[in-house]
Amino acid sequence: GRRLIVAIDGPAGAGKSTVASRIARRFGLLNLETGAMYRALAFKALTHKLPLDDAHALESLTTDTVIRLEPGGDGNRVLLDGQDVTTTLRQPEITEAASRVSVHPVIRRWMVEQQRSLGAEGGVVMEGRDIGTAVFPDAQVKIFLDATPEARSERRASQTGAASATQTLEEIRRRDERDRTRAESPLKPAPDAVVIDSTFLPLEEVLARIEAVVQRRL
Ligand code: C5P
Repeated sequence: GRRLIVAIDGPAGAGKSTVASRIARRFGLLNLETGAMYRALAFKALTHKLPLDDAHALESLTTDTVIRLEPGGDGNRVLLDGQDVTTTLRQPEITEAASRVSVHPVIRRWMVEQQRSLGAEGGVVMEGRDIGTAVFPDAQVKIFLDATPEARSERRASQTGAASATQTLEEIRRRDERDRTRAESPLKPAPDAVVIDSTFLPLEEVLARIEAVVQRRL
């Protein structure tokens, strides 16, 4: 059959990145973080001082934009027009900008097209918000990884060393709301996704459950 595609979707801070890279390593798959692509475009838009609600300006920006994801140690290295921007992309203002850029249908369509060609050969774990619903609706494995906003903001704050988990909680709620209510491919589990709530599950248990799902499709 077709080479494996594992789609991992869910809200911010649910642990998708860690889980995706561990599953990729375990099964010898390429790990692709689609959020990094939205972040890279958002970074470029900020650099060019474009208004983030101007879909038309953003669309023009995409016409001379090349975003590449390369295997890194712990997640992807991101090349934006040939430049390594990996370390820049985690900044809070880029996080917020990526969330705003990603609501525009024209931008989502551009991203989905790129992501489909990245995963066309299979052999990938693709992580994001709309992989199982929009990018690869026929992926063999679909996981929707969730957790309460409180659990997610605590994890995020400890990862990023953010000053306050409260601030992170507000930021996460705002991003979730935008992701869940946008018109084009809103964040929601695909009908055939395996939903895993990681609020009270240790990482190893989450991994074991996903591994079991993948094993059944090999
Ligand atoms: O996953 P990450 O936090 O890096 O994603 C940044 C933002 O990009 C998210 O808040 C979300 O709004 C957007 N995104 C998206 N669709 C994806 C991946 C990310 O809309 N497949």
